[in-house]
Amino acid sequence: MINLLNTIPSTQAAIRKEIGNGKTIGFVPTMGALHEGHLVLIRRAVAENDFVVVSIFVNPIQFNNPDDLAKYPRTLETDLKMLESTGCHLVFAPSAEEMYPEPDRSEFDFGKLDKVMEGKFRPGHFNGVAIVVKKLFEIVSPHKAYFGEKDFQQLAIIKNMVSQLNLPVHIVPCPIVREPDGLAMSSRNTRLSPKERSEALIIFKALSGISENYSWFIPDGVKQLVRGEIQESPLFRVEYVDVVDTETLQPFEDWNDVEHAVVCVAAFIGSVRLIDNIKLF
Ligand code: PAJ
Repeated sequence: MINLLNTIPSTQAAIRKEIGNGKTIGFVPTMGALHEGHLVLIRRAVAENDFVVVSIFVNPIQFNNPDDLAKYPRTLETDLKMLESTGCHLVFAPSAEEMYPEPDRSEFDFGKLDKVMEGKFRPGHFNGVAIVVKKLFEIVSPHKAYFGEKDFQQLAIIKNMVSQLNLPVHIVPCPIVREPDGLAMSSRNTRLSPKERSEALIIFKALSGISENYSWFIPDGVKQLVRGEIQESPLFRVEYVDVVDTETLQPFEDWNDVEHAVVCVAAFIGSVRLIDNIKLF
């Protein structure tokens, strides 16, 4: 049986007991509305740790768009049912008051990392993510924490925060989990109409297409091609397509300038904002 806890002290006490018994703690932070993408991370954590904690918390301070926060799916009952089959041990599902009895005004400095892509289009988003993840790490004290490459920039921000603050946690990046047709799994996919759902696949088609033949083009040409392909659908409004260094997240002019590159996309289809990415090399 999974133990569901809502308060910080009860969660800390339960985890302290496990650590006292020499158990290793694995942690998967989520905002709920769980899907197979989350479950893959959780199963991996179960395979690699003695005791696994999943947090479910829709973190208000990382939403720059109030409408997105209001419409974010909240499905705790179904989430708990899905978690039963994963073998995770503890679910921490706090209220906003429990997490933020007072507003947390911490300000992180991520240098250039949060000035591009998501950071540019969602001001304050990564500061809100960093605040909550730091707080969750303090509560859970995990040995290992699992993050999806679906949120490529978020992963870079978390790694940077852990290194800035010397936090004693090992960050484990996990590959993107996709629907059978290629659409990256996301809690927001449930908000797509059937027509939008089928058009949404264009993002993956454009990304997987370019990953085959990017070397025929310069990086900027790749950006233009992917953007053009997605915008052929009138349902889409592309926010950004960027080709960046996987470490620094900065754009570059020549393929020889970087060791590893990734193409990242954010686009609205109707009112739903989707992100995806593909590593080129
Ligand atoms: P959420 O969007 O619920 O995602 C929780 C974790 O699942 C993140 O690490 C995310 O990258 C991963 N994930 C989501 N969809 C995935 C997919 N299709 N394939 C692989 N991994 C996937 O990301 C957040 O919540 C929040 O920002 C959080 C880190 C919990 C802080 O509030």
